[in-house]
Amino acid sequence: MTLGIPRPLDNELPAAYADRVGQWYMSWNKTNKKLGQFFTPLSVARFMARLLPVGNERLRLLDPGAGLGILSAALCEVSDRDIELVAYEIDAEIADYLDACLSYTQTWMKTKNRTLQYRVVRDDFVLAHAKTLYESSDQLHDAVICNPPYFKLSKNDPRAQAAEIVVYGQPNIYALFMAVSAAILRPGGYAVYITPRSYAAGPYFSRFRDYFFSYMRPRTIHLFESRDDVFEEVLQESMILLAERSGYDSDILLSSSVADTDLGVMSKRITSVAQVVGKDNILRLPLTEQDREIAELVNSWTGNLHKYNMEISTGPVVPFRASHLVTSAGEVPATHAPLLWMQNIKPMRCEWPQQHKGQYLVLKGADKLVLPNQNYVLLRRFSAKEERQRLTAAPYFANLNTPVIGLENHLNYIYRPKGQLLDDETRGLALLLNSDLINQYFRTFSGSTQVNAAEIRSLPLPPLDAIIEMGRLAAGKNFNGTDPVATVLGIYA
Ligand SMILES: C[S@@+](CC[C@H](N)C(=O)[O-])C[C@H]1O[C@@H](n2cnc3c(N)ncnc32)[C@H](O)[C@@H]1O
Repeated sequence: MTLGIPRPLDNELPAAYADRVGQWYMSWNKTNKKLGQFFTPLSVARFMARLLPVGNERLRLLDPGAGLGILSAALCEVSDRDIELVAYEIDAEIADYLDACLSYTQTWMKTKNRTLQYRVVRDDFVLAHAKTLYESSDQLHDAVICNPPYFKLSKNDPRAQAAEIVVYGQPNIYALFMAVSAAILRPGGYAVYITPRSYAAGPYFSRFRDYFFSYMRPRTIHLFESRDDVFEEVLQESMILLAERSGYDSDILLSSSVADTDLGVMSKRITSVAQVVGKDNILRLPLTEQDREIAELVNSWTGNLHKYNMEISTGPVVPFRASHLVTSAGEVPATHAPLLWMQNIKPMRCEWPQQHKGQYLVLKGADKLVLPNQNYVLLRRFSAKEERQRLTAAPYFANLNTPVIGLENHLNYIYRPKGQLLDDETRGLALLLNSDLINQYFRTFSGSTQVNAAEIRSLPLPPLDAIIEMGRLAAGKNFNGTDPVATVLGIYA
């Protein structure tokens, strides 16, 4: 069954062998994206294995979604325990190669006077154990090491239904792997996962976070800040979490590196769990002392959009639904309204029209899609793929000659439902949202390229007078380019 599989080299370390088999496999078989097959790089596998405390006894280890077993093999390399492993792998072909890699690991362990007993389970891990989310299990493990598959599931997928307690909106299979594997961990046991960072914040993972962090306490978090270097095809920051099944908190070690190649030059910080896991269970990662100071400052502000009678909404024009109304030429204000897209919004600047398709919206039939021509703060909902998450906001001062405007769906807009935004308020708020301060604050809890309205709604804001003062300063004749946000907040950069 495992015809053609490379043979182990003399004295080859087991994780190095699993890595080589993985590369061989990928050289002739494009990894199966449907099953979320991305194999862990060798350096990352060993890094994860070293994080896992193994105790003094024989270790009952679980590796759900084991692939070629590189994570378990790395643990066998770095720990001095006897190991009893259960490895789940749904892909029958990979499961055969997994068996071969683990068999080599077993032989290698023997040469070190240790034992590895393993069982490869060719089954769906989530379906096999989801019931432990609801009732206790007697098949407990001492440790979990896991790089789960990641892909979105439909709500009707049997796995999403079996794990409904952690599902809200559209689930991603990786969160189900985390919740289910942690549920079959013994109290005091540890789990180490490498996953996208997306579960750390955002409403879709709220039920998962509430469930998972009710019994798992984070001990170490490592963030890879580069979005696509660890797993080429996963355009998200990757994160390693070591968590203990425990009701008690201790300090937490936060570290980061750019990618897997610079694991040796990491930044490191020890901080309290309270700094990282809020009451809302959102994970904030103040990786530097400056991040911590910024989080403390912003969290001390008591204002927010609602307190200032403002609201944020998403642009109502969805081009593929309104394609008959979106045109490249038009007469404003006679028959058309200006239509603003993400491309029209630059930091602190709205540029319209541009050499870009669909800059006009036909008025006839668009009553429900247009907005009154008044002051808005316009925000891009996504950062460019290649850049880090960044808020891009521009003040719009109702300066186009039109009674109404159109805003495309990739924009959010801030307005005052019962009234108008003043010019200085509009400018000041846009300045604040573009500022390095707020961007650094956002990056401590979100690594995604998306900035959703709910996040801006819950963003703490300084007093409204301060925001107005920022706008006033920036508009003033004597404005000399000093940063109005820093000046008003008393931070002299
Ligand atoms: C992201 S890969 C990681 C593989 C390996 N753990 C590593 O670190 O290289 C996830 C693995 O989970 C397997 N998988 C996907 N869905 C699964 C399921 N429902 N149950 C068990 N394994 C699954 C895939 O075939 C794939 O090999």
